[in-house]
Amino acid sequence: MILITGGCGYIGSHINKQLHSAGFDTVVLDNLSTGHADAARWGRFVRGDLCDADMVAAVLKEWPIEAVLHFAAFSLVEESVRDPQKYYRNNIGGTLNLLEAMLAAGVYKMVFSSSGAVYGLPSETPIPETHATAPLNPYGYTKNIIERVLRDYQQAYGMNSVALRYFNAAGADNDGELCERHDPETHLIPSLLKGLKAGRAVTIYGEDYPTPDGTCVRDYIHVKDLAHAHVLALQKLLAGPCADAYNLSTGHGCSVRDVVGTVEEVTGQRLEVVAAERRAGDPPVLVGDPAKAKRELGWQTRYSLLEMIGDQWSAMGGLKG
Ligand code: UFG
Repeated sequence: MILITGGCGYIGSHINKQLHSAGFDTVVLDNLSTGHADAARWGRFVRGDLCDADMVAAVLKEWPIEAVLHFAAFSLVEESVRDPQKYYRNNIGGTLNLLEAMLAAGVYKMVFSSSGAVYGLPSETPIPETHATAPLNPYGYTKNIIERVLRDYQQAYGMNSVALRYFNAAGADNDGELCERHDPETHLIPSLLKGLKAGRAVTIYGEDYPTPDGTCVRDYIHVKDLAHAHVLALQKLLAGPCADAYNLSTGHGCSVRDVVGTVEEVTGQRLEVVAAERRAGDPPVLVGDPAKAKRELGWQTRYSLLEMIGDQWSAMGGLKG
């Protein structure tokens, strides 16, 4: 049985679904601070917060857990700059509780949701995993610190882990069961689509970055491609000892303007765009090299930006829904 923390969130719920299709049984642990109870459709669901160490220990004792997929975390770059305490307490404190409970229960396998935000300002693009890590914001630091914790825990206690450094997750499952729905929504693609549906202008944060069109460049990756990588990471963990990190990225960057253009192409609608100041904590360019995941996990992305936007648009019901 696999424990999925944060399994009611956007990425965790997609992965829970995919694990069930691959034949795994799961327990979802989520405090519903940002997730949705109706997303825990597969496996069992326990409502609880990782900051509650006793509850986490009880969950690990109650179920025959073989491995943990750890998604539960706050993940907004700008919010982490405004309120770092919230991030350090939850993302680091909660994870330490989880690891302690795992060690006590004899569970030695974790797939950790890390982030491309660990790199900070890259000196080469696309960024390989060997690139130095120097996060630009507290969110990125929390991920960087836990990666370090995991390496130390493997040396000292034999805790095996695969850290998956996500770049910009987007898209939705295309049978309408799940999609990206944050409240408030701050992510680019759902924000553009919501603006379109509501007939209001959308905002571009910064047009004076050192990029070809002045807007930030990101590496957007379909959540279904992310989900597939988790199944492969889990198989690697089940096969033998490791404490490794992989980029989950496409290797191709798209600017905010490129995304606006693709939204217009997918929906056949024109977006009204207004320019605003840069958002705190945003690096100008973040594009990851996926070669290591391809080589060592046998993972390859299958979906384009057009498909990510198309699937999210359908999941939101298009203009009418
Ligand atoms: N942006 C806009 N307008 C909006 C929303 C976003 O211009 O309405 C811009 C942002 O400033 C940024 C880009 O679009 O330049 C992407 O922003 P997102 O909020 O969609 O995503 P982030 O790049 O800030 O962060 C995401 C995840 C992080 C992860 C990071 C890694 O939320 O958890 O990708 O690349 F660390």
